[in-house]
Amino acid sequence: MSKKIQAIRGMHDILPDRIPTWHRLEDTARRVLEGYGYSEIRTPVVEVTDLFKRSIGEVTDIVEKEMYTFPDRNDDSLSLRPEGTASCVRAAIEHGLLMQPQRLWYRGPMFRYERPQRGRYRQFHQIGVEVFGLEGPDIDLELMLMTARLWRELGLEGFRLEINSLGDAEERAAYRAELIAYLEAHVEQLDEDSCKRLHSNPLRVLDSKHPQTREIVAGAPSLLDHLGATSRAHLDHIRAGLERAGVDYQVNPRLVRGLDYYNRTVFEWITDELGAQGTVCAGGRYDGLVAQLGGRPTTAVGFAMGIERLVELLELSGAQDDPGIDAYLVALGERAQQEAPVLAERLRDTLPELRLVVHAGGGSFKSQFKRADKSGARYALILGEDEAERGVVGVKALREQIEQRELDFTALAALLAGTPA
Ligand code: HAM
Repeated sequence: MSKKIQAIRGMHDILPDRIPTWHRLEDTARRVLEGYGYSEIRTPVVEVTDLFKRSIGEVTDIVEKEMYTFPDRNDDSLSLRPEGTASCVRAAIEHGLLMQPQRLWYRGPMFRYERPQRGRYRQFHQIGVEVFGLEGPDIDLELMLMTARLWRELGLEGFRLEINSLGDAEERAAYRAELIAYLEAHVEQLDEDSCKRLHSNPLRVLDSKHPQTREIVAGAPSLLDHLGATSRAHLDHIRAGLERAGVDYQVNPRLVRGLDYYNRTVFEWITDELGAQGTVCAGGRYDGLVAQLGGRPTTAVGFAMGIERLVELLELSGAQDDPGIDAYLVALGERAQQEAPVLAERLRDTLPELRLVVHAGGGSFKSQFKRADKSGARYALILGEDEAERGVVGVKALREQIEQRELDFTALAALLAGTPA
């Protein structure tokens, strides 16, 4: 027997029973985002590798060890996208979208060769937002208020909003030098990864998970003390806005994010309910990236949320998302079987929202009826030779104790529309 082929580790099928929850999340997000005037953009899942190297940063986990990179038949190096921001920037430059401010959103699969665990997958899905050409803190605030609204609309509670400012390039450079000096003085106590990063990406040492490194980091100088007046005012504006809007937040001076392109505002929404992978949404400002990728200097800010993590929270909250079907049509006898699809199409013409399954594959009345019951439908519609002859349909409620009835087309359509004649 040949070996069974299975899905790749860390990549999952999403089976039909979970799809209604995915839909609820995706539909709600789309409605909320479009309600704030964001337009959807779709970009390819594969890009030239350089795009990610030049944006996410050479010395990041993602680029160093998590990308699915391969040569195509032409020997160009391509990568499955590990995130959506770089592609959005590339597309915005390529299509001249940056002549005016843009509010964009996207959704889709992303790929990272991470060690799979709860909430961390190799193919996962994000819904993300990128805003171009708006400089002020008002738009950063909008992103936070918009996500807060999304949580409310989804009925998700208990998230913590953490914010920080990474300052501008000069402020960060000054801080970086001071941080390196501090870490060098404690290099003996740092974990291996942090030692490696000490000079290449010292800010990442700040969010090391290693207990001993964390102790050292606790005494490190704070970036917040190095912010100039403009960066500080930017952060203060967001804080005041969140306070006025009644959105709780914490300033976390150690929040630095794992991608290199950020400056000033960074933020994360975190839950304690998912174990180690508790960040459900994360983002920040990346004012330098457009120019870095060859576009004219354009400020930018965005975030992305992990759909799998949010779906798991929705499932944990016990919400029932199965929309079910309205009716299952069974037909017995040759004439009835010919009539069934005609009746079904007429019903669909009359009731565009109707969820109706037409039995296929024949079988006895009993076996058809069993299927109807299993389908979860509210009604079984029964078409036998006799009913077909007389132009009526038998209707049996499958979830309520109601006598079976015979209805003509008009009465049936009214019943299925929720207004029984
Ligand atoms: P990120 O922090 O790498 O940021 O990912 C954003 C979110 O995607 C995470 O908070 C998490 O919910 C989800 N996520 C990331 N990796 C995985 C994984 N392996 N499995 C499951 N979920 C995951 C970005 O991707 C930036 N592009 C966000 C951004 C947009 N910044 C500015 N604009």
